[in-house]
Amino acid sequence: MACVNIIVAATPTGGIGMDGKLPWELPGDMAYFREVTMRTKREGTRNAVVMGRKTWASIPAKFRPLKGRINLVLSSSSDESALRVAEGIPAEVLVSSSLAGAMSALSSVPDLASIFVIGGASAFSEALSGITGIICDTVYLTRVLVEKSCDVFIPPLDDSKYALDELQVSYHSFLEHRQYMNLIAQFFTLLCLSSSVAPPPYPPFPTITRVAAQTSA
Ligand SMILES: NC(=O)c1ccc[n+]([C@@H]2O[C@H](COP(=O)([O-])OP(=O)(O)OC[C@H]3O[C@@H](n4cnc5c(N)ncnc54)[C@H](OP(=O)(O)O)[C@@H]3O)[C@@H](O)[C@H]2O)c1
Repeated sequence: MACVNIIVAATPTGGIGMDGKLPWELPGDMAYFREVTMRTKREGTRNAVVMGRKTWASIPAKFRPLKGRINLVLSSSSDESALRVAEGIPAEVLVSSSLAGAMSALSSVPDLASIFVIGGASAFSEALSGITGIICDTVYLTRVLVEKSCDVFIPPLDDSKYALDELQVSYHSFLEHRQYMNLIAQFFTLLCLSSSVAPPPYPPFPTITRVAAQTSA
């Protein structure tokens, strides 16, 4: 099966969404999301982005489906045609009624590289729990270092399963984002300890232990 990853941006308390939207504007994080979900090791292959119905709805119509990636929307709806009409889901976007079903549908895509679960809360939760037999290799976590009012939260990360692999820090300037003048986004790459890829030694940066402590909902 293709490698499964999670990419998410969260506040210190694990907040990821508010009123069906992102609670912040972070162009730097958007660009990072695009770069990570677009890049593949082999030319001629594409990554898949798997998302819940509300995450699909939260993407502005002009940006969806997300270009250059295989889009898959999760919904328990038994009427796929009605769902496609109601949510504006075009034919080239896959629809699945479960995460396991999504993995199965994607396994028959010939040019598939990696799979990215891009939200929301239940898809993250399911992918991290391992209950469906899916092992999430890497969590790309952007820590938004200001607390924002949120109504959707990610589950805490299990620090016995994930270790910090890489840290990038991005400072957003006062002029660019007046409302978030003190906002700093940290991009974490967290490797699953149980995956076949051995994580490198901890760098002298905050470890996943700190991240896990800060993302509890
Ligand atoms: N900060 C971030 O990185 C990030 C990322 C993504 C989204 N968000 C934010 O999070 C919010 C949306 O997330 P959410 O958790 O509320 O909703 P969501 O997970 O995007 O969508 C929930 C819906 O998706 C379907 N679904 C999800 N998992 C499923 C599964 N395993 N099997 C079948 N159907 C499944 C169900 O649709 P039906 O009701 O049709 O059955 C469910 O009601 C928005 O505010 C968005 O902006 C933030």
